[in-house]
Amino acid sequence: MFRSAQHDKARSIEPPRVINIEDLRRAAKRRLPRVVFDYIDGGAEDERTLRANCHAFEEVTFRPRCAVATPACDLRVSVLGRSLSMPLILAPVGSSRLMYPRGEEAAAGAAGAAGITYALSTLSGCRLEDVAAASKGPLWYQLYLVGGRDCALSVIERAKAAGFSALIVTIDTPVAGMRERDLRNGVKELLSDNFGSKLPFVSQLLIKPSWLARFLADGGLMKFQNVVIPGKGPMLYADVTAALEDSAVTWDDLRWIQRAWGGPIVIKGIHTGDDARRAVDVGAKALVVSNHGGRQLDSVAPTLRILPEVVASVGDRIEVLLDGGIRRGSDIVKALCLGARAVMVGRAYAYGLGAAGGAGVARAIEILRSDLVRTLKLLGCASIAELDRSYVDTPADWPGK
Ligand SMILES: Cc1cc2nc3c(=O)[nH]c(=O)nc-3n(C[C@H](O)[C@H](O)[C@H](O)COP(=O)(O)O)c2cc1C
Repeated sequence: MFRSAQHDKARSIEPPRVINIEDLRRAAKRRLPRVVFDYIDGGAEDERTLRANCHAFEEVTFRPRCAVATPACDLRVSVLGRSLSMPLILAPVGSSRLMYPRGEEAAAGAAGAAGITYALSTLSGCRLEDVAAASKGPLWYQLYLVGGRDCALSVIERAKAAGFSALIVTIDTPVAGMRERDLRNGVKELLSDNFGSKLPFVSQLLIKPSWLARFLADGGLMKFQNVVIPGKGPMLYADVTAALEDSAVTWDDLRWIQRAWGGPIVIKGIHTGDDARRAVDVGAKALVVSNHGGRQLDSVAPTLRILPEVVASVGDRIEVLLDGGIRRGSDIVKALCLGARAVMVGRAYAYGLGAAGGAGVARAIEILRSDLVRTLKLLGCASIAELDRSYVDTPADWPGK
Protein backbone atom coordinates (compact mmCIF):
# COMPACT_ATOMS: atom_id res chain seq x y z
CA MET A 1 0.00 0.00 0.00
CA PHE A 2 2.78 2.40 1.07
CA ARG A 3 4.91 1.36 -1.92
CA SER A 4 2.05 2.05 -4.27
CA ALA A 5 1.46 5.50 -2.71
CA GLN A 6 5.18 6.25 -3.22
CA HIS A 7 4.96 4.97 -6.77
CA ASP A 8 1.95 7.22 -7.49
CA LYS A 9 3.77 10.19 -6.01
CA ALA A 10 6.84 9.56 -8.17
CA ARG A 11 4.69 9.14 -11.28
CA SER A 12 2.86 12.37 -10.54
CA ILE A 13 6.05 14.38 -11.15
CA GLU A 14 7.64 12.34 -13.95
CA PRO A 15 7.15 12.80 -17.70
CA PRO A 16 4.74 12.90 -19.42
CA ARG A 17 2.82 14.49 -16.56
CA VAL A 18 5.57 16.88 -15.56
CA ILE A 19 7.78 18.17 -18.32
CA ASN A 20 8.44 21.71 -17.17
CA ILE A 21 8.17 23.98 -14.12
CA GLU A 22 4.68 25.11 -15.10
CA ASP A 23 3.58 21.44 -14.83
CA LEU A 24 5.04 21.33 -11.30
CA ARG A 25 3.12 24.51 -10.53
CA ARG A 26 -0.11 22.82 -11.58
CA ALA A 27 0.75 19.72 -9.55
CA ALA A 28 1.35 21.91 -6.48
CA LYS A 29 -1.97 23.64 -7.07
CA ARG A 30 -3.73 20.29 -7.08
CA ARG A 31 -2.15 19.08 -3.82
CA LEU A 32 -2.06 22.24 -1.70
CA PRO A 33 -4.89 24.20 -0.07
CA ARG A 34 -5.52 27.50 -1.85
CA VAL A 35 -4.08 29.53 1.03
CA VAL A 36 -0.72 27.69 0.81
CA PHE A 37 -0.56 27.60 -3.00
CA ASP A 38 -1.33 31.32 -3.25
CA TYR A 39 1.27 32.09 -0.60
CA ILE A 40 3.86 30.59 -2.99
CA ASP A 41 2.40 31.77 -6.27
CA GLY A 42 1.27 35.28 -5.40
CA GLY A 43 2.96 38.65 -5.34
CA ALA A 44 2.39 42.15 -4.01
CA GLU A 45 -0.55 44.39 -4.91
CA ASP A 46 -1.35 44.15 -8.66
CA GLU A 47 1.47 41.63 -9.18
CA ARG A 48 2.98 43.81 -11.92
CA THR A 49 6.56 43.08 -10.92
CA LEU A 50 5.79 39.38 -10.49
CA ARG A 51 4.60 39.21 -14.11
CA ALA A 52 7.30 41.58 -15.38
CA ASN A 53 10.07 39.41 -13.91
CA CYS A 54 8.96 36.52 -16.12
CA HIS A 55 8.12 38.69 -19.11
CA ALA A 56 11.62 40.22 -19.17
CA PHE A 57 13.05 36.81 -20.08
CA GLU A 58 10.69 36.65 -23.06
CA GLU A 59 12.04 39.97 -24.32
CA VAL A 60 15.63 38.74 -24.55
CA THR A 61 16.35 36.66 -27.64
CA PHE A 62 19.22 34.31 -28.48
CA ARG A 63 21.91 34.61 -31.16
CA PRO A 64 23.06 31.00 -31.59
CA ARG A 65 26.23 29.81 -33.35
CA CYS A 66 25.19 26.88 -35.47
CA ALA A 67 27.22 23.97 -36.87
CA VAL A 68 29.39 23.98 -33.72
CA ALA A 69 30.11 20.66 -31.98
CA THR A 70 29.51 20.74 -28.19
CA PRO A 71 29.88 17.10 -27.08
CA ALA A 72 29.89 17.70 -23.30
CA CYS A 73 28.73 20.96 -21.79
CA ASP A 74 30.45 22.14 -18.64
CA LEU A 75 27.85 23.61 -16.27
CA ARG A 76 30.14 24.08 -13.28
CA VAL A 77 30.62 27.47 -11.66
CA SER A 78 32.30 28.72 -8.52
CA VAL A 79 30.30 30.91 -6.11
CA LEU A 80 32.03 32.30 -3.01
CA GLY A 81 34.87 29.89 -3.65
CA ARG A 82 32.68 26.75 -3.71
CA SER A 83 32.27 24.78 -6.90
CA LEU A 84 28.62 24.14 -7.83
CA SER A 85 27.53 21.53 -10.36
CA MET A 86 25.48 24.20 -12.14
CA PRO A 87 24.86 27.95 -11.74
CA LEU A 88 21.78 27.49 -9.56
CA ILE A 89 21.06 28.18 -5.89
CA LEU A 90 17.81 27.50 -4.05
CA ALA A 91 16.64 30.89 -2.72
CA PRO A 92 15.36 31.36 0.83
CA VAL A 93 11.67 30.47 0.93
CA GLY A 94 9.99 31.07 4.28
CA SER A 95 7.49 28.61 5.80
CA SER A 96 8.48 25.77 3.49
CA ARG A 97 7.20 23.44 6.19
CA LEU A 98 3.64 24.43 5.24
CA MET A 99 4.30 23.09 1.75
CA TYR A 100 5.55 19.68 2.82
CA PRO A 101 6.50 18.02 6.12
CA ARG A 102 10.00 19.06 7.16
CA GLY A 103 10.07 21.10 3.95
CA GLU A 104 13.35 22.90 4.54
CA GLU A 105 15.19 19.64 5.23
CA ALA A 106 13.68 18.08 2.10
CA ALA A 107 14.72 21.02 -0.10
CA ALA A 108 18.22 21.24 1.38
CA GLY A 109 18.67 17.48 0.88
CA ALA A 110 17.69 17.72 -2.79
CA ALA A 111 20.01 20.69 -3.36
CA GLY A 112 22.93 18.90 -1.68
CA ALA A 113 22.36 15.75 -3.72
CA ALA A 114 22.43 17.88 -6.89
CA GLY A 115 25.66 19.65 -5.86
CA ILE A 116 24.12 23.11 -5.49
CA THR A 117 23.67 25.55 -2.61
CA TYR A 118 20.53 25.84 -0.47
CA ALA A 119 19.73 29.09 1.35
CA LEU A 120 17.66 28.63 4.50
CA SER A 121 15.21 31.41 5.42
CA THR A 122 15.10 32.89 8.92
CA LEU A 123 11.37 32.23 8.70
CA SER A 124 11.70 28.47 8.59
CA GLY A 125 9.98 25.74 10.56
CA CYS A 126 12.95 23.36 10.80
CA ARG A 127 15.90 23.92 13.11
CA LEU A 128 18.96 25.05 11.16
CA GLU A 129 21.00 22.20 12.73
CA ASP A 130 18.53 19.65 11.29
CA VAL A 131 18.69 21.31 7.88
CA ALA A 132 22.50 21.12 7.97
CA ALA A 133 22.30 17.42 8.85
CA ALA A 134 19.94 16.79 5.92
CA SER A 135 22.28 18.20 3.25
CA LYS A 136 25.74 17.36 2.00
CA GLY A 137 25.98 20.54 -0.09
CA PRO A 138 26.88 24.16 0.68
CA LEU A 139 24.39 26.02 2.89
CA TRP A 140 23.71 29.72 3.37
CA TYR A 141 21.66 31.20 6.18
CA GLN A 142 19.33 34.09 5.27
CA LEU A 143 19.11 36.61 8.07
CA TYR A 144 16.24 38.89 9.05
CA LEU A 145 16.76 40.87 12.24
CA VAL A 146 13.38 39.78 13.59
CA GLY A 147 13.64 39.35 17.34
CA GLY A 148 16.39 41.98 17.63
CA ARG A 149 20.19 41.91 17.68
CA ASP A 150 20.56 39.46 20.59
CA CYS A 151 18.37 36.99 18.81
CA ALA A 152 20.40 37.52 15.61
CA LEU A 153 23.67 37.03 17.49
CA SER A 154 22.54 33.69 18.86
CA VAL A 155 21.40 32.41 15.45
CA ILE A 156 24.63 33.62 13.85
CA GLU A 157 26.58 31.52 16.37
CA ARG A 158 24.34 28.52 15.73
CA ALA A 159 24.71 28.88 11.95
CA LYS A 160 28.51 29.07 12.26
CA ALA A 161 28.60 25.99 14.46
CA ALA A 162 26.34 24.04 12.10
CA GLY A 163 28.64 24.76 9.12
CA PHE A 164 26.66 27.34 7.13
CA SER A 165 29.24 28.95 4.86
CA ALA A 166 27.67 32.37 4.12
CA LEU A 167 25.12 34.73 5.55
CA ILE A 168 22.62 36.17 3.10
CA VAL A 169 21.03 39.38 4.32
CA THR A 170 17.75 40.45 2.70
CA ILE A 171 17.38 44.23 2.53
CA ASP A 172 14.07 44.75 0.71
CA THR A 173 11.74 43.88 3.57
CA PRO A 174 11.35 46.92 5.89
CA VAL A 175 7.71 45.90 6.03
CA ALA A 176 5.89 42.90 4.54
CA GLY A 177 4.58 43.53 1.01
CA MET A 178 0.83 43.79 0.47
CA ARG A 179 0.04 40.25 -0.70
CA GLU A 180 -3.63 40.59 -1.46
CA ARG A 181 -4.21 36.90 -2.13
CA ASP A 182 -3.14 36.14 1.46
CA LEU A 183 -5.70 38.61 2.80
CA ARG A 184 -8.50 37.19 0.68
CA ASN A 185 -7.63 33.63 1.67
CA GLY A 186 -7.93 34.54 5.35
CA VAL A 187 -4.31 34.14 6.47
CA LYS A 188 -4.89 36.60 9.32
CA GLU A 189 -8.06 34.86 10.46
CA LEU A 190 -6.55 31.37 10.17
CA LEU A 191 -3.67 32.47 12.41
CA SER A 192 -5.95 34.06 15.00
CA ASP A 193 -7.16 32.37 18.19
CA ASN A 194 -10.75 33.19 17.39
CA PHE A 195 -12.53 30.06 16.14
CA GLY A 196 -15.47 32.07 14.79
CA SER A 197 -13.32 34.21 12.51
CA LYS A 198 -11.36 31.15 11.28
CA LEU A 199 -14.48 29.21 10.36
CA PRO A 200 -15.24 30.76 6.92
CA PHE A 201 -11.72 29.89 5.75
CA VAL A 202 -11.31 26.35 7.09
CA SER A 203 -13.01 24.53 4.20
CA GLN A 204 -10.03 25.20 1.87
CA LEU A 205 -7.93 23.04 4.24
CA LEU A 206 -10.54 20.30 4.65
CA ILE A 207 -10.87 19.70 0.91
CA LYS A 208 -7.18 18.73 0.73
CA PRO A 209 -7.23 15.79 3.19
CA SER A 210 -3.91 14.25 2.16
CA TRP A 211 -2.11 17.60 2.64
CA LEU A 212 -3.97 18.12 5.93
CA ALA A 213 -3.11 14.67 7.29
CA ARG A 214 0.61 15.20 6.61
CA PHE A 215 0.51 18.77 7.94
CA LEU A 216 -1.01 17.61 11.23
CA ALA A 217 1.36 14.63 11.47
CA ASP A 218 4.24 17.12 11.03
CA GLY A 219 3.07 19.02 14.12
CA GLY A 220 0.56 21.45 12.57
CA LEU A 221 1.33 25.16 12.44
CA MET A 222 5.02 25.54 13.00
CA LYS A 223 6.91 28.02 15.14
CA PHE A 224 10.04 29.73 13.85
CA GLN A 225 12.69 27.49 15.35
CA ASN A 226 15.57 29.76 14.41
CA VAL A 227 14.10 32.94 15.88
CA VAL A 228 14.44 32.18 19.54
CA ILE A 229 13.36 35.23 21.55
CA PRO A 230 15.32 35.46 24.82
CA GLY A 231 13.03 34.47 27.69
CA LYS A 232 10.16 33.54 25.34
CA GLY A 233 11.30 30.77 22.98
CA PRO A 234 10.66 30.31 19.23
CA MET A 235 8.67 33.11 17.58
CA LEU A 236 5.03 32.41 16.82
CA TYR A 237 3.64 32.56 13.31
CA ALA A 238 1.16 35.32 14.14
CA ASP A 239 4.01 37.60 15.33
CA VAL A 240 5.98 37.74 12.05
CA THR A 241 4.40 40.77 10.40
CA ALA A 242 4.94 43.03 13.41
CA ALA A 243 8.44 41.62 13.96
CA LEU A 244 9.45 42.43 10.35
CA GLU A 245 8.32 46.03 10.78
CA ASP A 246 10.41 46.36 13.92
CA SER A 247 13.52 45.00 12.31
CA ALA A 248 14.29 46.86 9.08
CA VAL A 249 17.94 46.37 8.26
CA THR A 250 20.13 49.41 7.45
CA TRP A 251 23.62 49.78 5.97
CA ASP A 252 24.89 50.39 9.52
CA ASP A 253 23.37 47.10 10.65
CA LEU A 254 25.17 45.43 7.76
CA ARG A 255 28.53 46.56 9.10
CA TRP A 256 27.56 45.17 12.51
CA ILE A 257 26.34 41.89 11.00
CA GLN A 258 29.59 41.62 9.04
CA ARG A 259 31.61 41.92 12.26
CA ALA A 260 29.42 39.45 14.16
CA TRP A 261 29.52 36.84 11.40
CA GLY A 262 33.13 37.20 10.27
CA GLY A 263 32.56 35.15 7.09
CA PRO A 264 31.22 36.02 3.64
CA ILE A 265 28.06 38.13 3.40
CA VAL A 266 25.64 38.12 0.47
CA ILE A 267 23.26 41.08 0.16
CA LYS A 268 19.90 40.21 -1.37
CA GLY A 269 17.45 42.77 -2.70
CA ILE A 270 19.62 45.03 -4.88
CA HIS A 271 17.49 47.11 -7.28
CA THR A 272 19.94 49.76 -8.52
CA GLY A 273 23.57 50.32 -9.43
CA ASP A 274 23.85 52.74 -6.46
CA ASP A 275 22.86 50.12 -3.90
CA ALA A 276 25.14 47.62 -5.61
CA ARG A 277 28.08 49.98 -4.97
CA ARG A 278 26.98 50.31 -1.32
CA ALA A 279 27.05 46.53 -1.03
CA VAL A 280 30.67 46.61 -2.23
CA ASP A 281 31.46 49.41 0.23
CA VAL A 282 30.20 47.42 3.24
CA GLY A 283 32.41 44.53 2.22
CA ALA A 284 29.82 42.06 0.91
CA LYS A 285 31.29 39.26 -1.20
CA ALA A 286 28.18 38.77 -3.35
CA LEU A 287 24.90 40.51 -4.07
CA VAL A 288 21.59 39.32 -5.43
CA VAL A 289 19.72 41.50 -7.91
CA SER A 290 16.31 40.65 -6.51
CA ASN A 291 12.90 42.17 -5.91
CA HIS A 292 11.83 39.27 -3.70
CA GLY A 293 10.06 37.67 -6.65
CA GLY A 294 7.64 40.61 -6.92
CA ARG A 295 6.41 40.10 -3.34
CA GLN A 296 7.52 43.43 -1.87
CA LEU A 297 7.38 46.82 -3.70
CA ASP A 298 5.14 46.38 -6.72
CA SER A 299 6.08 48.22 -9.94
CA VAL A 300 9.83 47.96 -9.47
CA ALA A 301 11.65 46.98 -12.66
CA PRO A 302 12.14 43.31 -13.46
CA THR A 303 15.48 42.03 -12.23
CA LEU A 304 16.79 40.92 -15.62
CA ARG A 305 16.35 44.44 -16.95
CA ILE A 306 18.42 46.08 -14.22
CA LEU A 307 21.11 43.40 -14.18
CA PRO A 308 23.27 45.18 -16.83
CA GLU A 309 23.16 48.44 -14.80
CA VAL A 310 24.28 46.60 -11.66
CA VAL A 311 27.05 44.71 -13.46
CA ALA A 312 28.30 47.94 -15.03
CA SER A 313 28.39 49.70 -11.66
CA VAL A 314 30.35 47.05 -9.71
CA GLY A 315 32.43 45.24 -12.35
CA ASP A 316 34.18 42.27 -10.80
CA ARG A 317 34.49 43.77 -7.30
CA ILE A 318 31.67 41.53 -6.08
CA GLU A 319 29.93 38.37 -7.33
CA VAL A 320 26.61 39.26 -8.94
CA LEU A 321 23.68 36.85 -8.66
CA LEU A 322 20.10 37.32 -9.83
CA ASP A 323 16.69 35.94 -8.98
CA GLY A 324 13.11 36.56 -10.04
CA GLY A 325 11.05 34.96 -12.78
CA ILE A 326 13.28 32.03 -13.65
CA ARG A 327 11.16 29.13 -14.85
CA ARG A 328 13.39 27.60 -17.57
CA GLY A 329 17.04 26.73 -17.98
CA SER A 330 17.08 29.11 -20.95
CA ASP A 331 16.18 31.90 -18.49
CA ILE A 332 19.29 31.00 -16.48
CA VAL A 333 21.39 31.21 -19.65
CA LYS A 334 20.00 34.67 -20.46
CA ALA A 335 20.85 35.96 -16.96
CA LEU A 336 24.38 34.58 -17.29
CA CYS A 337 24.80 36.18 -20.72
CA LEU A 338 23.86 39.53 -19.17
CA GLY A 339 26.48 39.20 -16.44
CA ALA A 340 25.14 37.11 -13.55
CA ARG A 341 27.55 34.54 -12.16
CA ALA A 342 24.67 32.27 -11.03
CA VAL A 343 20.96 32.57 -10.27
CA MET A 344 18.65 31.75 -7.42
CA VAL A 345 15.17 30.30 -7.84
CA GLY A 346 12.31 30.49 -5.37
CA ARG A 347 8.99 29.44 -6.85
CA ALA A 348 10.50 27.02 -9.39
CA TYR A 349 11.54 24.69 -6.55
CA ALA A 350 8.75 25.64 -4.10
CA TYR A 351 6.21 24.33 -6.63
CA GLY A 352 8.14 21.05 -6.67
CA LEU A 353 8.21 20.95 -2.88
CA GLY A 354 4.47 21.59 -2.71
CA ALA A 355 3.79 18.95 -5.35
CA ALA A 356 5.90 16.10 -3.96
CA GLY A 357 8.37 17.13 -1.23
CA GLY A 358 12.08 16.43 -1.78
CA ALA A 359 11.36 14.38 -4.92
CA GLY A 360 9.56 17.39 -6.39
CA VAL A 361 12.49 19.70 -5.62
CA ALA A 362 14.87 17.18 -7.21
CA ARG A 363 12.60 17.10 -10.27
CA ALA A 364 12.65 20.91 -10.53
CA ILE A 365 16.46 20.92 -10.39
CA GLU A 366 16.66 18.13 -12.98
CA ILE A 367 14.32 20.01 -15.35
CA LEU A 368 16.47 23.15 -15.10
CA ARG A 369 19.68 21.15 -15.54
CA SER A 370 18.55 19.38 -18.69
CA ASP A 371 17.18 22.68 -20.06
CA LEU A 372 20.60 24.22 -19.46
CA VAL A 373 22.50 21.52 -21.32
CA ARG A 374 20.11 21.59 -24.26
CA THR A 375 20.17 25.40 -24.47
CA LEU A 376 23.97 25.52 -24.43
CA LYS A 377 24.15 22.91 -27.21
CA LEU A 378 21.60 24.75 -29.31
CA LEU A 379 23.56 27.96 -28.81
CA GLY A 380 26.78 26.27 -29.89
CA CYS A 381 28.44 27.06 -26.56
CA ALA A 382 30.50 24.43 -24.73
CA SER A 383 30.43 25.84 -21.23
CA ILE A 384 28.74 28.23 -18.82
CA ALA A 385 32.04 30.11 -18.51
CA GLU A 386 31.91 31.10 -22.21
CA LEU A 387 28.47 32.73 -22.10
CA ASP A 388 28.47 36.47 -22.71
CA ARG A 389 26.40 39.24 -24.27
CA SER A 390 27.24 38.13 -27.78
CA TYR A 391 24.75 35.25 -27.39
CA VAL A 392 21.72 37.50 -26.76
CA ASP A 393 19.87 40.55 -28.03
CA THR A 394 18.07 42.84 -25.61
CA PRO A 395 15.26 45.24 -26.58
CA ALA A 396 16.35 48.65 -27.84
CA ASP A 397 14.72 50.49 -24.93
CA TRP A 398 16.61 48.56 -22.20
CA PRO A 399 19.16 50.54 -20.17
CA GLY A 400 22.75 50.12 -21.32
CA LYS A 401 21.95 49.65 -25.01
C1 LIG B 1 6.84 31.45 -0.84
C2 LIG B 1 8.04 32.36 -0.83
C3 LIG B 1 8.62 32.70 0.38
C4 LIG B 1 9.76 33.52 0.41
N1 LIG B 1 10.38 33.78 1.61
C5 LIG B 1 11.52 34.50 1.62
C6 LIG B 1 12.23 34.69 2.83
O1 LIG B 1 11.85 34.20 3.89
N2 LIG B 1 13.37 35.43 2.78
C7 LIG B 1 13.84 35.98 1.62
O2 LIG B 1 14.87 36.64 1.63
N3 LIG B 1 13.17 35.80 0.46
C8 LIG B 1 12.05 35.07 0.43
N4 LIG B 1 11.40 34.86 -0.76
C9 LIG B 1 11.96 35.42 -2.01
C10 LIG B 1 12.91 34.42 -2.68
O3 LIG B 1 14.06 34.24 -1.91
C11 LIG B 1 13.33 34.91 -4.07
O4 LIG B 1 13.85 36.19 -3.98
C12 LIG B 1 12.18 34.89 -5.07
O5 LIG B 1 11.35 33.76 -4.86
C13 LIG B 1 12.72 34.87 -6.49
O6 LIG B 1 11.70 34.90 -7.43
P1 LIG B 1 11.08 33.57 -8.13
O7 LIG B 1 10.15 32.99 -7.12
O8 LIG B 1 10.38 34.11 -9.30
O9 LIG B 1 12.22 32.64 -8.43
C14 LIG B 1 10.27 34.04 -0.81
C15 LIG B 1 9.67 33.68 -2.01
C16 LIG B 1 8.58 32.85 -2.04
C17 LIG B 1 7.98 32.47 -3.36
